[in-house]
Amino acid sequence: MYGIVVSIELAAVLLLLILSWIAGGKASKLVFHGSIDRLRIRSRKLLWWAAYVSAAVCAVVSCVALLAVRMEPIFWIDRAALHIPLVGVPVLFVWFSSVPKLMNLYKDTKKEADGPVNGTLRSRASQASLVAPFQLLALGALTTFYFVLVPPVPFEWLNVAIPVSLFAILCFALWTLHRRRSERAGRSDTALKLRSWPVRALRNVGVLVIASAVAAPFFISAMNASRLPEELDMGTGVADYGGGVIPAGGGHLDHTAHAAGKPAATSASTVSVTQLTGPRTGKPDRQYTLTAEKKTVRLSSGKEVDAWTYNGQIPGPELRMKEGELVEVTLINKDIEDGVTIHWHGLDVPNAEDGVAGATQNAVMPGETYTYRFLAEQVGTFWYHSHQHSKEAVQKGLFGALIVEPRQPQAKDLKDITVLTHMWRGAGFAIGSSDTVERMTVAAGTPVRLRLINTDDWVRQTYTLIGTEYQVAAIDGTDLNKPGTLRYTRLGLLTGGRYDVTFTMPDGPVFLSVGEGKKLGLFMSPDGSGDLPSSPPTVPFEPQHYGSPAPTPFDADSRFDREFTMILDNKLGFYNGVFSSYDTINGAVFPNTPMFVVREGDLVKTTIVNRGSVDHPMHLHGHHMLVLSRSGERVSGSPWWSDTLDVAPGETYEVAFRADNPGIWMDHCHNLQHAAAGMTMHLMYEGVTTPFTVGSATSNHPE
Ligand code: C2O
Ligand code: CU
Repeated sequence: MYGIVVSIELAAVLLLLILSWIAGGKASKLVFHGSIDRLRIRSRKLLWWAAYVSAAVCAVVSCVALLAVRMEPIFWIDRAALHIPLVGVPVLFVWFSSVPKLMNLYKDTKKEADGPVNGTLRSRASQASLVAPFQLLALGALTTFYFVLVPPVPFEWLNVAIPVSLFAILCFALWTLHRRRSERAGRSDTALKLRSWPVRALRNVGVLVIASAVAAPFFISAMNASRLPEELDMGTGVADYGGGVIPAGGGHLDHTAHAAGKPAATSASTVSVTQLTGPRTGKPDRQYTLTAEKKTVRLSSGKEVDAWTYNGQIPGPELRMKEGELVEVTLINKDIEDGVTIHWHGLDVPNAEDGVAGATQNAVMPGETYTYRFLAEQVGTFWYHSHQHSKEAVQKGLFGALIVEPRQPQAKDLKDITVLTHMWRGAGFAIGSSDTVERMTVAAGTPVRLRLINTDDWVRQTYTLIGTEYQVAAIDGTDLNKPGTLRYTRLGLLTGGRYDVTFTMPDGPVFLSVGEGKKLGLFMSPDGSGDLPSSPPTVPFEPQHYGSPAPTPFDADSRFDREFTMILDNKLGFYNGVFSSYDTINGAVFPNTPMFVVREGDLVKTTIVNRGSVDHPMHLHGHHMLVLSRSGERVSGSPWWSDTLDVAPGETYEVAFRADNPGIWMDHCHNLQHAAAGMTMHLMYEGVTTPFTVGSATSNHPE
């Protein structure tokens, strides 16, 4: 609903801008009509235009009103405080000032026989209170349009003061201009002559040139200010303390604090991320070597992909381990010039093992190696990928599945199947490297676990399981409590998210359909043969009411040490010197996005609001967030822990986590296209420093 209403509002504002601009021109030309008949006809026409613009204003106001009834204020407060007065006040002027004057003009000219227009009529046809309201409306629509493209988020009067003052000054100037002109028109005893079109065109160009000259310095300074610095320490930034304790002295933190907080008596001592490692000694239970190299790989259909691989395969090898094991992974970069790392997506490893170039390590360049060591403490479905130029790296294949099996052995005959979906550029969607329907023989009665992992930007991948009842046993690697039985349900995953689906194989065929149609998926039947069952109508899976409640270490009623707000939106502006429309966090792109500062042990609540027009899978490294509520509705089903939370336009989530894993942790949109365009920020533990840097002069480019 939100997305549609917002688009309609945008269309209505644009329409209003066009209509009011035309009406303003017509109103201003009224005085040039030399004969009484023409003045009468034109006055009547302008009355119609008053109706047209009013209809457009009504559309704008209705959209905002609809949002106000249905949504929380954060979605419409700026629209109510700015859009409505900016178009509403001028349109009232049109109705209470222009329209009565036009009607009188129409009536009076109707009584008279045709003839030349006299001075009195001319001054009446050009009076400011008749003409200017139409033009003020055009200015109001223009200012509103600006606020649609550059929403004041978070809503602060400072953000709106300049455009609103500009609007007020221009309104005043226009009004004065028309008053003077009307006086002149009344005094002269011949009809005013409209200047020839080249003169008018020249004048318009002149106005445009002056306006651009005034705007240019602002534009250029904004462009320069957006350039990423040559070297940037991720430990510094625009600190937001979430209303919690502000470290005294500040240590290394930059105190451009956004939120108010209480100054602390003591400041924590510092620790470098390089000290926050997994166990450095001890014989590993599992050892892997992953070699990053370029390779042309064939999909099951025969299509070829020019890939960046781990160990020459796409996706990289599945890493399977047991709960509690010490894992050692050696990364070798053979020939990826841009550098590589490995990030263990969803696994809350110690900070130094997190694999983020520029925050927890340097990018591993060709010929270099790097070793990760961590304990596999969480059971579930995860994945790994390079976190250096990650948009490109993941797109091209530097990723794989990571599965942690529980300590106690799983059922002997369990069919444990990883379904890692990806879109290979130029070759299309595939499950792993298989881009056709795969057929499997599964005996009736066999327990099956499908581990769905979506690794794609842009698409909400849909998974429909047909032919059996099933459960969603886990979300983002964490088991759900008493998951209920599902049927005719569509599971949707944005990039980075995971669902584990379990069922017992029936004696008929089962089909996991990936995406729309029957082009991609897994077909299982007791003898491997049979027809693909057709898809029934489905409803989307709603995790917040699924399963049964169970005790959690904290909940919505807990007392939080810090409360942060993350407003996702889009905005026209600059990122690294390039002008475009960007997806923003609290109105900014990196490095101007906030840095949430916490102290070890804090209980932290974050409210994530998506005011934008597209979905954002928000991924916090190093922690799992307990989802407290979704769009104001408390989670009433199983505890729902997430590391990659899909926040759709118009949605609000409240999530909470315990700050129990010190470090510098990325927090970003996992639509890596968005992340690479600045939709990224980080969670910063007080007292943690990093020797690594990002920026144009370094080889570290985590996104
Ligand atoms: Cu899967 Cu910061 O990433
Ligand atoms: Cu995004």
